Amino acid sequence: MDLLQTRVTGVDFRNPILLASGIWGESGISLTRAYEGGAGGVVTKSIGSEPRSGYPNPTIEKNGTWGLLNAMGLPNPGIESYGEEVRYALSRGVRVVGSVFGGTAEEFARLSQAMEALGVAAIELNLSCPHAKGYGSEIGSDPEALAEVVRAVKSAVRLPVWAKLTPNTADPASLGRAAERAGADAISAINTLRGMAIDPVTMRPILSHVSGGLSGPAIKPIGLAFVWQVFEAVHIPIIGIGGISRPEDVFEYLLAGASLVEVGTAVMEGGGPLFGQLARGVSDILVTHGLKSVSESVGAAHRR
Ligand code: SIN
Repeated sequence: MDLLQTRVTGVDFRNPILLASGIWGESGISLTRAYEGGAGGVVTKSIGSEPRSGYPNPTIEKNGTWGLLNAMGLPNPGIESYGEEVRYALSRGVRVVGSVFGGTAEEFARLSQAMEALGVAAIELNLSCPHAKGYGSEIGSDPEALAEVVRAVKSAVRLPVWAKLTPNTADPASLGRAAERAGADAISAINTLRGMAIDPVTMRPILSHVSGGLSGPAIKPIGLAFVWQVFEAVHIPIIGIGGISRPEDVFEYLLAGASLVEVGTAVMEGGGPLFGQLARGVSDILVTHGLKSVSESVGAAHRR
């Protein structure tokens, strides 16, 4: 057996490195490109009930020092039209995880049922977008509200449910425990951190929405600490996200307690081939340490 193959929440992945939601997720072709580049699976863009155009430009700001700020405003074609993108990727053998966002527990449940009907392998709940009124972290930073969503979705679908948590909280462990108690099969962490940039020439905020979500290398230590804390608080698997661009970053997340990882911002530069490079690099690292499987490395830093 290939040492990168892994089974998480009952789903088989050929390697533990997935495309993160939000990057390349809007079309079946780009999801397929990530998978053909070597991703172990792909997470769709977060999809809502109705088409949504998102915020006006500028919606992203990239900076070599700290990474990427985005406030897209959850643009998406709506679940009905998005079906053809998922079907395209599935028809090419891509392992697809469907990401959904809603304003209420019932809306999350309906969207998850629609995703399940499309044939995805698991559902990821976006409980963590840091800048969309009535959505994301406005729900997911309250353990009660988060648990209500997870319970509603769990009773509506048979698929594994992954709760994607916000780092914009003082207490990651409480959010993790609330998701686990409500029946979540896994925790995805982290989404972006709220941040902003101001243009010193125009003297105005750069993003049209003023604040956005920070991603990229700057947030890796924060993602690692979050995964570490949640690993010590729950018994369900964790999917580590935040600032991954090198095989060593993937390995660090595994050691901190992640069973899978998702890569987003780095794909904008590395493209599909980045996934193959990361997978080969992680395989070499496991061999170097005499580890026979990904699961042997999961949480290993806690045991040393
Ligand atoms: C966005 O569409 O603005 C980003 C989504 C997210 O951060 O979850």
